[in-house]
Amino acid sequence: MPTLERLRADHAEALFAFERDNRGYFARTVPDRGDAYFAHFTDRLGALLAEQEEGVCHFHVVLGDDGEVAARVNLVDVDPADGSAELGYRVAERYAGRGLATAAVREVCGAAASYGLRALTAVTHEDHLASRRVLERTGFTATGRFLLDGRPAVRHRRSLEGLMP
Ligand SMILES: CC(C)(COP(=O)(O)OP(=O)(O)OC[C@H]1O[C@@H](n2cnc3c(N)ncnc32)[C@H](O)[C@@H]1OP(=O)(O)O)[C@@H](O)C(=O)NCCC(=O)NCCS
Repeated sequence: MPTLERLRADHAEALFAFERDNRGYFARTVPDRGDAYFAHFTDRLGALLAEQEEGVCHFHVVLGDDGEVAARVNLVDVDPADGSAELGYRVAERYAGRGLATAAVREVCGAAASYGLRALTAVTHEDHLASRRVLERTGFTATGRFLLDGRPAVRHRRSLEGLMP
C-alpha cells in the first residue's frame, strides 16, 4: 500500500531515481526539468528543504512497498495573504492508471489543511485529460482559461475550509 510522506533529506536517492527513470515519460506532458536539475540534484533538494522549513512550500513523496518513490505531490508558492498554495503532482509510469494521483491529491488536501492552508490552486493543459480528471475527482473546479506555453490551459481551485482541523 503506497504511503504519503513529507519530503525529507533521506528520500534523496529514491527521489533522484524517480526523476531520472521517468524523465522521458514526464517530458511528454510537463516541461523537462533540464540537465542542470540532475547535475545539481543534491544542492537543489537542500534548497527546497530549506524553503519547506520556512513554510514557503510543502513537498510530499508517495512510497511504494519497496521504498521506491511512486509519486510526488508538491504545494508551492504558499501565499500567506490568502492561505493558498499551488498543487503539482507526477506519478511514475509504472504506477500510472491505478488511482494513485487521485488518492495522493486527496491525502495532500488533508495535509494542506493541517498546515493551515485555506485553498489550493492547480493548472493543467486543457488537453491533459488524465490530470483534469484527477482534479475533478478531488474537488477542484475550473476558474479560468489561459494560454500556457502557447497552449490552452485551465486554472482550478479548491477550498480546504471543510478540512480545517
Ligand atoms: C496525470 C497523472 C498525474 C495521472 O496519474 P494517475 O495515478 O494515473 O491518475 P489516476 O489513476 O488517479 O486518475 C487518472 C484518471 O484519468 C483518466 N484518464 C487517463 N488517461 C485519460 C485520457 N487520455 N482521457 C481521459 N481520461 C483519462 C483515468 O481513466 C482516470 O480516471 P478514472 O479513474 O475516472 O477512470 C500521471 O499520468 C502523471 O504523473 N503524468 C506525468 C506528469 C503530469 O502530467 N503531471 C500533471 C501535470 S498538470
